[in-house]
Amino acid sequence: MNVVVVNNFDRMSEEVAKIMIKQITQKPKSVLGLATGSSPLRVYKLLVEYHNRGADFSGLTTFNLDEYVGLSKEHPQSYRQYMNENFFSHVNIKPENTFVPSGVTEDPEEECRLYEQSIKQAGGIDMQILGIGSNAHIGFNEPGTPFDSITQVVDLSESTIKDNARFFDTIEEVPTKAISMGIKTIMQAKEIVLMANGGSKAKAIYGAVMGRITPEVPASVLQLHPSVTIVVDQAAASKL
Ligand code: GLP
Repeated sequence: MNVVVVNNFDRMSEEVAKIMIKQITQKPKSVLGLATGSSPLRVYKLLVEYHNRGADFSGLTTFNLDEYVGLSKEHPQSYRQYMNENFFSHVNIKPENTFVPSGVTEDPEEECRLYEQSIKQAGGIDMQILGIGSNAHIGFNEPGTPFDSITQVVDLSESTIKDNARFFDTIEEVPTKAISMGIKTIMQAKEIVLMANGGSKAKAIYGAVMGRITPEVPASVLQLHPSVTIVVDQAAASKL
């Protein structure tokens, strides 16, 4: 595990963007696993700037980690909407090669099965980008999720619902379920890059990097992966 400690959010974003640009340059047909949340926002901005300077993203395929159950792709807080607004609509990735689970499918179990199948058909994920929840969740894999889990419907923990309420008008509007890649799905990526900033992530980062490997701390599983880079600002690294 390679831990990179930087000064602040901007440096963290630059470091992660640099790693992604290297991946895209080396393999223009990369399959990228993408994350949402506030952590990667500036990374997407930097990738858009890179595209505006002439970089071609038309060979890329992307798979997002998760989506809220019950939110349509037009809902302002859906992760599909987040990806369109912050990244996809500003670059030349082919829309048909951008995968985000559907939160409003009639048959969520089937949606999960097809999502796993699509990842396999694409040849697997070359580089998975991750944020981390304050309870150390990755994707929406909450504490207690088995390490052998694949894409599935999950219940969000109370702490996650509280953390994410800031994006909604009221806490009652925060969905209580999501479709999320499983821990095993994430661990199958060839390379993983996790980013975190701020003191509210310090405990989770300690658990991910130095804690006991246990499903109670989902990100601790990353210690078992052969190629992980963790990019953190000083506040998030404060317990290391
Ligand atoms: C959300 C997402 C995660 C994300 C995490 C941290 O619930 N499902 O993929 O990494 O919480 O979010 P943020 O970056 O906003 O702190």
